[in-house]
Amino acid sequence: MRMVDLITKKRNHEVLSQAEIQWIITEYVAENIPDYQMSALLMAIYFNGMTDEEQAQLAFAMLHSGDVLDLSGIPGIKVDKHSTGGVGDKISIPLAPIVASLGVPIPMISGRGLGHTGGTLDKLESIPGFNVNLSEAEFIAQVKAHGEAIVSADTKMAPADRRIYALRDVTATVEAIPLIASSIMSKKIASGTNALVFDVKVGNGAFMKTEADATKLAHALVDIGKQANVQSVALLTDMNQPLGITIGNSLEIAESIAILKGRGPKDVHDLTVRLAGHMLVLGGVTPSLEVAIGLAEDVIRDGRALAKFKQLIKDQGGDPTVVDNPKLLPQAQYQIAVKATAAGYVTAMDTNALGVAVMQLGGGRAKKDDQLDLAVGLVLHKKIGTPVSVGDTLATIHANTENVDAVVEAVQAAYRIGAERPERLPLIHQIIT
Ligand code: URA
Repeated sequence: MRMVDLITKKRNHEVLSQAEIQWIITEYVAENIPDYQMSALLMAIYFNGMTDEEQAQLAFAMLHSGDVLDLSGIPGIKVDKHSTGGVGDKISIPLAPIVASLGVPIPMISGRGLGHTGGTLDKLESIPGFNVNLSEAEFIAQVKAHGEAIVSADTKMAPADRRIYALRDVTATVEAIPLIASSIMSKKIASGTNALVFDVKVGNGAFMKTEADATKLAHALVDIGKQANVQSVALLTDMNQPLGITIGNSLEIAESIAILKGRGPKDVHDLTVRLAGHMLVLGGVTPSLEVAIGLAEDVIRDGRALAKFKQLIKDQGGDPTVVDNPKLLPQAQYQIAVKATAAGYVTAMDTNALGVAVMQLGGGRAKKDDQLDLAVGLVLHKKIGTPVSVGDTLATIHANTENVDAVVEAVQAAYRIGAERPERLPLIHQIIT
């Protein structure tokens, strides 16, 4: 086979065979295909797309480029959740203990934040001592013993995806649905889970800005999952405003603790118990989604989920007393109020800009190896639909410098205030099975 012929095929809207896709990935990982040829193929895929069969074969070829975790030693149906990334999306943190406390093993492999989106691992690392780098044996032993672990991906999993993702990043080919779906699924299937719930974010703070694109991605993820025998459900959920009232690592841990104490914001609570419901159904606890959601509510109410979270922190070397005293989490030195300059209702929020504002404070990464300030971030006092008077505090900036004028301006500009109360945004747009 010659790479130039396969690039030509894709350029001419033809379909690549399984053998051809496998050959491309094997030869690329072996460094027999140069980056310039791979880049040309990626751009052809960006413009001409892939069939369902092609994108599944691409996911499987990337999956088999590295190690696949064997979780068969852990009894039960293992379930994981994957979010396509948002602002203020701390859902995994309360979700894992809720589901694990109902007997479903949760071997959760999470990511770090990049750009305007946050990452679960960074948030967890704001708990003093918390270790996300467990060995495979430690990870499996912890899930076996206590039903949950949240860790960073092993670098030996799906190496083809890592190389291709780095290339996509610099060749303007990240936003191609077949490439996103195969990238996500190669890693998720490699993690050895039996079932997956996807939280596909849609809106101005998400990768997918439109419902049409988010729906396409959700179908692609679920279809590849089915072909790999991984039971999958995707929820399309709203990212036209941040989730909850905090953006920033330790602030989001404090909010997650509040959720587990039954005191958190309603949107985070509702999405958490709904996602938990789907995970419990996939995990075989009950066939009824409504019953499953009720069970998730129960373990929040009676403290079992909170106890499970303390256990998770203890197991991974963290200080569990943060649960009783969230002030032990990293705290920023300065708190600066951002005031409203107009009256009316919050009609829209530029979610992406709020994520970028936290990045400017040092709470997010522009580049992969940037160091984070885990204490900084935003607390939002107003969200879409809230009435506002001139001089009201829209948000509080938590910073480790007093020099935040640019961030104050960015936050003010991110709030759109108008005379009419806007319609309520649905939290869940669609469920795709
Ligand atoms: N997340 C991934 O893992 N891969 C992509 O391509 C996009 C988001």
